[in-house]
Amino acid sequence: MVASRPFGSGGPLVSVIGQGTWPLPDRDALRRGIALGLTHIDTAEMYGDGRSEEIVGEAIAGVPREKLFLVSKVLPQNADAKGVARACEQSLRRMRTDYLDCYLLHWRGSVPIEETMAALERLVDAGKARSLGVSNLDPWDLREAGAALRTHRITCDQVLYNLEERTIEEHELPWARENGAAIVAYTPLGRPTIDAKKKRYASIAQIAERRGVSVQAVALAFLIRDERVFAIPKASRIEHVEANAAAATLTLDDDEIAAIEAAHPRRRRVGALPTN
Ligand SMILES: NC(=O)c1ccc[n+]([C@@H]2O[C@H](COP(=O)([O-])OP(=O)(O)OC[C@H]3O[C@@H](n4cnc5c(N)ncnc54)[C@H](OP(=O)(O)O)[C@@H]3O)[C@@H](O)[C@H]2O)c1
Repeated sequence: MVASRPFGSGGPLVSVIGQGTWPLPDRDALRRGIALGLTHIDTAEMYGDGRSEEIVGEAIAGVPREKLFLVSKVLPQNADAKGVARACEQSLRRMRTDYLDCYLLHWRGSVPIEETMAALERLVDAGKARSLGVSNLDPWDLREAGAALRTHRITCDQVLYNLEERTIEEHELPWARENGAAIVAYTPLGRPTIDAKKKRYASIAQIAERRGVSVQAVALAFLIRDERVFAIPKASRIEHVEANAAAATLTLDDDEIAAIEAAHPRRRRVGALPTN
């Protein structure tokens, strides 16, 4: 069964590997993932204009709600006081559930962050979301958003994080450690997807062969080696779902981590937080 860990300090136990749903998920693949314990499901009102949330609703039908950790996101253009409440209601209706485990601002737009954070807090108070979070925010934005909160805190920042994009470890991950939050890695397999035949993936290909798992599982295991990190690969193919589930129980040793670090060095960021 897929490993779980607290979603931020004192948070609920959540599967370290989840399931992404952009642009559209496959319902049967989602179901297979849930059966394997990939119960952390990430979606957004943006994905397929709501269709992704509907497919999630179909996939989770019959699954006890408390076994799932459902995350959705409000678009920045809907992130004003009334818009957040309306967008959340619509997401809940499409997913056929009465609460989200975490509701995120998808990225920062022109609505003042104080207004969005206050609206998210009201949803948590009303029981429509168990927690609130953000996506694509760098530490400067995170501090501003955090300072705007009165009673709740930012439980996660969902960011682009994979072998080729490790600046997260220098910037957002330290913020998460200081603030008891989780980091959720989106596009964890990279864009383009990891290809074992490419020379730069030779180190993980060797580890994968030795461990009898896929290169993708090794790449995911590398990201989740930090106790604050979760990864949400999207897989429409059942064999991909199964390979990703294998990552949740794979613990890399120090030599394996060092080999991957040497091939994919960590860097400090110059410029904006990357989003694709
Ligand atoms: N917050 C944001 O702004 C943001 C932005 C982008 C994404 N996201 C979220 O993060 C999720 C994941 O990101 P992503 O979809 O961009 O990228 P990704 O999960 O890194 O890559 C998805 C691609 O990898 C393939 N794949 C998955 N598992 C595989 C495996 N074990 N072996 C080989 N190939 C595998 C999938 O193929 P198949 O589908 O054919 O199986 C698909 O083509 C999204 O679905 C979405 O929920 C959030």
